[in-house]
Amino acid sequence: MKTSWITLILLSCLLQISRAQNKHIEKLQFPKGFLWGAASAAYQVEGGTKADGRGPNIWDKYLNPPYSLAKMATGQDVNGDIAINEYDRNQFLKDVKLMKDLGINTYRMSISWPRVLPEGTGKVNEAGIDYYNFVINTLIENGIKPLVTLYHFDMPLALANKGGWMNRECVNWFTDYANLCFDRFGDRVKTFLTFNEPSIEMFFLQTLFDAIDSKQMPSIPASEKYISEHFAHIHHLMLAHAQSVNLYHTKNLGGKIGITFNFMLCDLDSTASESGKTSLNLVRKVWNNLFMDPAFKGSYPKELFDRLKASQYGDIQAGDMDLIKSAKTDFLGINYYGVNMYHEKPGAGFFGLVNGKNPDKPEMFNGFVNPAAFVDGLVSLKKQYSNPEIIITENGAGYGEMDEKFENGKVNDVLRMAYIQKHIKAVNEAIRKGVNIKGYFVWSMFDNLEWIMGFSRRFGITYVDFKTQDRFPKQSYLWYQTFLKEQKK
Ligand code: BGC
Repeated sequence: MKTSWITLILLSCLLQISRAQNKHIEKLQFPKGFLWGAASAAYQVEGGTKADGRGPNIWDKYLNPPYSLAKMATGQDVNGDIAINEYDRNQFLKDVKLMKDLGINTYRMSISWPRVLPEGTGKVNEAGIDYYNFVINTLIENGIKPLVTLYHFDMPLALANKGGWMNRECVNWFTDYANLCFDRFGDRVKTFLTFNEPSIEMFFLQTLFDAIDSKQMPSIPASEKYISEHFAHIHHLMLAHAQSVNLYHTKNLGGKIGITFNFMLCDLDSTASESGKTSLNLVRKVWNNLFMDPAFKGSYPKELFDRLKASQYGDIQAGDMDLIKSAKTDFLGINYYGVNMYHEKPGAGFFGLVNGKNPDKPEMFNGFVNPAAFVDGLVSLKKQYSNPEIIITENGAGYGEMDEKFENGKVNDVLRMAYIQKHIKAVNEAIRKGVNIKGYFVWSMFDNLEWIMGFSRRFGITYVDFKTQDRFPKQSYLWYQTFLKEQKK
């Protein structure tokens, strides 16, 4: 009798402890077959930039002398030669173990175009194909589905030197590359993305690279004039998307193909004038609809098409819009971080608006934290694009040193943990409001090379010691792991 009382008391204590630990972990209802994942991109994780016949990409040029962009931006002289060492197969095996322990069922990765086609076109680098076969097979053997982005800012230098996306031939260069990936990997990869964030590529990266090459620093984000003059870049990329989507569908590989956008939610300070509000609407449309409309409605937004003088600059030729219309993109990928705050500055920036701070809202690297705006934004996408299938292909946070204190092998990144928790809830709320969301990916599985910011911005749920390449799951990893376990119950 006495022992059974003690047992009961002990059991109830244990239950309370475990409830307290999981207090913040609710079981939420998500659709069957929901993709739970974490994301990465080739250049940010692989390293091995000169290994086994890989050709250089645009980043190998700009992160190295004489440009050394990361050094210029952060003071750290960093390039992608090692990144987080995933080109090393032993390293990748260890990393997959961490993914498996985390409990994700899908991993978003990208293929480096110049690793499989060193010149961007022509001769295939079989060693590069072997590497991706190894990566894809290892994931599958560990019960993790690969979701593959074909182009994550990874332009082969040889093609950039021929004008990159400003050159109409890029449409076919990309389609040939996509064709190669479908043929070599499409038997096992069932979800492809053509492009990651075309708007960032064009407004930020292209502007930056043009500026460096012409030695004239334009305002970033790009001006209206800049966007007009680069409308051909947008159009060629959308043509390449459409042509590759159609090609994929003719192959009947039994999978899906989408495109992912940087979902830019934008806000204006409360003192803004009426003309500031009109500009804000334009800014929102340029960031989002200019790219989403052709992929999901088959046309460019009329107002922007005229205003940006697309018929003059866009290289829009007979049959192009029919091609764009004919492509049935299977799903809409959304990368969301936070809200961008704009302020009026007549004559400057983006339609007279410039990006600024918001003293009332918590800030992280990519905007202001606002999960409620995310829910509203997703609901508006449902309305604007006739309830498309959506996958949240990136969502994550970086708050800098205060959230990354590494002590005794642990990082108590409470801000990131709370951020992920709130945004998963937001996704759930959007689903309850009828948005057709089929997956969620944390950015990122590991701390990695944050482009021109080098190693100065950590976004990972796993801490990486960039010198030793040791990995340490952060508190946010442990939270996500428990959350995923709950989902499986
Ligand atoms: C990009 C990633 C990047 C992340 C964090 C996204 O816009 O797709 O490559 O690392 O944001 O800034």
